[in-house]
Amino acid sequence: MTPDRPNRSLTGPDPADEVRDRPRRGVRRGRRRDNGGVTGTDSLGLAALRPRLPSPLQEVADERFERRGVRLLLKRDDLIHPDLVGNKWRKLAPNLATADGRTVVTFGGAYSNHLRAAAAAGRLLGLPTVGVVRGQELAGLPLNPSLARCAADGMRLHFVDRSTYRRKSEPETLAALLRAVDAEDAVVVPEGGSSPQAVRGCRALGEELGEHADVAAVACGTGGTLAGLAAGLPAGRRALGIPVLKGGFLERDIRRLQEHAFGGPRGIWSLEERFHHGGYARTTPGLDAFAEDFEDRHGLPLERVYVAKLLYALLALAEEGAFPRGTTLAAVVTGRPFP
Ligand SMILES: Cc1ncc(COP(=O)(O)O)c(C=O)c1O
Repeated sequence: MTPDRPNRSLTGPDPADEVRDRPRRGVRRGRRRDNGGVTGTDSLGLAALRPRLPSPLQEVADERFERRGVRLLLKRDDLIHPDLVGNKWRKLAPNLATADGRTVVTFGGAYSNHLRAAAAAGRLLGLPTVGVVRGQELAGLPLNPSLARCAADGMRLHFVDRSTYRRKSEPETLAALLRAVDAEDAVVVPEGGSSPQAVRGCRALGEELGEHADVAAVACGTGGTLAGLAAGLPAGRRALGIPVLKGGFLERDIRRLQEHAFGGPRGIWSLEERFHHGGYARTTPGLDAFAEDFEDRHGLPLERVYVAKLLYALLALAEEGAFPRGTTLAAVVTGRPFP
């Protein structure tokens, strides 16, 4: 059987090229007339990194969705930039725009996509970076591949115990952490990058999708991407979030993120909490089988912590009849597998 490939590009060049697109390292220079979606003043040189914005939107021929009368689109944020992949560009660019040469301090777990992206941004933009890593016990061990990439990109790593990590936003704990890493005037980017600026940056995702989709779906960690996406969608379109963590706290967090970013609720959004597969970075045989099959059908390597859970959930929901026939569904591909 011929595999179903993302087979029609609605925005952007030929989709076959999109799928074959492979990471290229370093700053890509050359022809570009616009500023790559970088808004406002750009003293940092973000536009020189040539983000591919708006990101391509591709239609996928998948008979399992077609049978339910649902059209599936992939919003390929994974193609925005080889090092600042997916929502990382949308969230980090506005955070870093104010860095002005100062050290960037941010936070994450041992396999954090966000830490890797922040380290890469530091290298590309010439900004010193410090990663505060959850897990004092990791301090004496060889670095895992994700943290090794951070270090190779010049990030200083500072390991803290879990109790300190939980309290990292409390002013006294944060001040002590900044003193410990000798970066008291640092730009502090919250875990997952979900500052108010980042949430406002993710609004562009909804604006780019515009009228192309009835439902725009995204996997959620902190919920910052969903908070911005929902705010950017036009009236009558809705956002759907698939939390990858167990907990049930995300709805409140997203309301709070929108309050801080926009001063109140924005857009229509909801969460489907049933698809975390046991919690963050956990998997199940069903999820693994789904991801391998999806990769075979569509020739698209799936990031497993977020993107695979999103697509699994969308298929399950389509099969439950959660989307009326005639729905166009856009799944945001927020990441790429590492390494
Ligand atoms: C690949 C990927 N997708 C989705 C998310 C979730 O983003 P958010 O924390 O804004 O919900 C993350 C986390 O930042 C991520 O790394």
